Amino acid sequence: MIFLMDLQMMLLDVIYFILRGSVRIVFRPRTKPIDGELVLITGSGGALGRLFALEFTKHGAEVVLWDIDANNNEETARLVREAGGKAYPYRVDVTNRVEVYRTADNVRTDLGRNVTMLVNNAGVVAGERLMDCPDELLERTMKVNCHALFWMAKAFVPQMKEQNHGHIITVASVLGLFSTACVEDYCASKFAAVGFHESLAHELLTEEFDGVKTTLVCPYIVDTGMFDGCKIRDEVALFLAPLEPRYCVEQAMNAILIDQPLVCIPRLTYLPVISRALLPWESNVVTYRFMGSDKCMYPFIESKRNKLTNGGPTLIAAN
Ligand SMILES: *[C@@H]1O[C@H](CO)[C@@H](O)[C@H](O)[C@H]1NC(C)=O
Repeated sequence: MIFLMDLQMMLLDVIYFILRGSVRIVFRPRTKPIDGELVLITGSGGALGRLFALEFTKHGAEVVLWDIDANNNEETARLVREAGGKAYPYRVDVTNRVEVYRTADNVRTDLGRNVTMLVNNAGVVAGERLMDCPDELLERTMKVNCHALFWMAKAFVPQMKEQNHGHIITVASVLGLFSTACVEDYCASKFAAVGFHESLAHELLTEEFDGVKTTLVCPYIVDTGMFDGCKIRDEVALFLAPLEPRYCVEQAMNAILIDQPLVCIPRLTYLPVISRALLPWESNVVTYRFMGSDKCMYPFIESKRNKLTNGGPTLIAAN
């Protein structure tokens, strides 16, 4: 009897959330105020991280900026201050867990307050064929895109739980939900990031820390130079061009400010996610072939190789 009542309640809830989700596509819910929040952004010296810093500043939050590149990070801090915000830059290698824990403690003592929003944005890609790629570069992709999420969570989630207040944002990629050829390191790390994020989100809900929100951001290729050269069929690219970084961050912010658990940017990329789940593998393969997304990374890897042989120092691109 109890079982049937639970079943009925569950089904009603399922329908309620489907309807709510549909309505929200058209009528955006009210955004939450984030002035007074302390937002930590990793990879804040990069293009996306910098834009995130400026967006959070615009909404009245203060930003703690973590990047391995002190110069780029200082520049982000300068831009935030120029925009009238408060920025606290730290030079951190997020792959070094000792450094992560120590700097987290430094942030707490320096600022005398807790980080309430965490934006795991730092990300890298090797940009070489698996068989040609130095092992260290493959490991680095896992360390930055996945392992760093463990250290960041251990450093900052306990206080969020204790206050039952906070927000964890993971910038993954649509390549954490479906994949393509020749970016094995990146896909492995982003699938890992998605798994990590969702498990943590489940944990928070199961333990009823419903004040600690989570948002998984899965953007398509963003035009930051990270995937320079990546190319799909022209006719398809008309609908699915590389994302303008500003557009990507604005869409991510919209999702964050309404506590949306998942956002794929642009919306069109929900289609391959659904088709991957529903259609036979071979059907997806022929779709990829038609769209030119099977070989989309070939020119990207080619352009990276040219950069390297031209003596460019760009071994690794970052968000
Ligand atoms: C930070 O979080 C800890 C753990 O909940 C709490 O004891 C402390 O008072 C918080 N600090 C501030 C300044 O809110």
